[in-house]
Amino acid sequence: MTDTPVDTTVAHTSRVWNYWLGGTDNYPVDREVGDRVRDLFPQVAEIARGDRLFLRRAVTHLIQREGVTQFLVVGAGLPTADNTHEVAQAIDPGARVVYVDNDPLVVAHARTLLADTGTAPARFVDADLRDVHKVLEAAARTLDLDQPVALTLMGTMGHFELDEALRLVRVYTEALAPGSFVAVCDGVLAHMEVDDAERAAEGMRIWAENVAQPYHMRTVEEFDRFFDGLELVEPGTVSVFRWRPGPAETVRDLPQYAGLAKKV
Ligand SMILES: C[S@@+](CC[C@H](N)C(=O)[O-])C[C@H]1O[C@@H](n2cnc3c(N)ncnc32)[C@H](O)[C@@H]1O
Repeated sequence: MTDTPVDTTVAHTSRVWNYWLGGTDNYPVDREVGDRVRDLFPQVAEIARGDRLFLRRAVTHLIQREGVTQFLVVGAGLPTADNTHEVAQAIDPGARVVYVDNDPLVVAHARTLLADTGTAPARFVDADLRDVHKVLEAAARTLDLDQPVALTLMGTMGHFELDEALRLVRVYTEALAPGSFVAVCDGVLAHMEVDDAERAAEGMRIWAENVAQPYHMRTVEEFDRFFDGLELVEPGTVSVFRWRPGPAETVRDLPQYAGLAKKV
C-alpha cells in the first residue's frame, strides 16, 4: 500500500460524499464545497442516501435471487453505514468482498476496517481503478474470478470522461466470468426543472473548480450505454429510489440513475 499523505487543502470526492452522507471523515475544505453545492442543489444529500439504498438492495438481490456471493467494489469510498461487506455478510457470512480505491483517506480507513491478510473475506486494494490488470490480479487473491462476481461502480464512473468510463466498464466486464453482474449508479441530466438544471450546472461548476476529481453528469441515454451487451435486471435503469423499492417506501425521481445487469 502507498503512504500518500491526506491533502486537506483541496476537497476530495470521497470526503465530500462522506459529508453529504452525514459522516465525520471530512475536512473544512470538503464541507465548504459540500455546503455550497448542497445549498444550490439540495437533492445531493438525498442522492447520496439513494445510492446507499440501491447498494443495499442490489447486494441483497444478488445474494438472495442470483446466488452471487463475490463482490468487487470499485471506487469504495469512505466507510459508512451499509458497507458492502456488512450488507453481504449479514445475509451470507461466506460472502467475499474486495474494495478498490486510491484516495489516501480511504486507504487509511480501510487499513483499520478490514483485515488485509489475503485470505480474509473482505480485502482492500489500494490502486487506481484504471489499472485494471493490477486490480484484478489483487482481487484474485480473495475472489475466485472463474466464478461469477458482482462488480459495483457506485458514484464512480462519473469521475471519468464518457468514452473512458464506457471502456473501463467493458474491460472489467470482459474479464469477469459469465453469470457475473455489473451495478452502476451515477448522476444523470434528468428529472430536473429548468431552475434545478441551472442550479445543478452551477453546482457542477463549483465542483469542477474545487474538487480534486472531476465529475461529469450525463444523459440517460449515455448512462444506459454502460449496460450495452448485458442483460438488465428488472426494472432496468431507473432513478435510484425506483430500483426495487420496498412496499412502504416513498419513491421519487432524482437525477441519479441506477442499473444492474448480467453478463450472459
Ligand atoms: C463519489 S465516491 C463514491 C463512493 C462509494 N462508491 C459510495 O457510493 O459511497 C467515488 C469514489 O471513487 C474513488 N475514485 C475516483 N477515481 C478513482 C480512481 N482513478 N481510482 C480509484 N478510485 C477512484 C474516489 O476516491 C471515491 O472514493
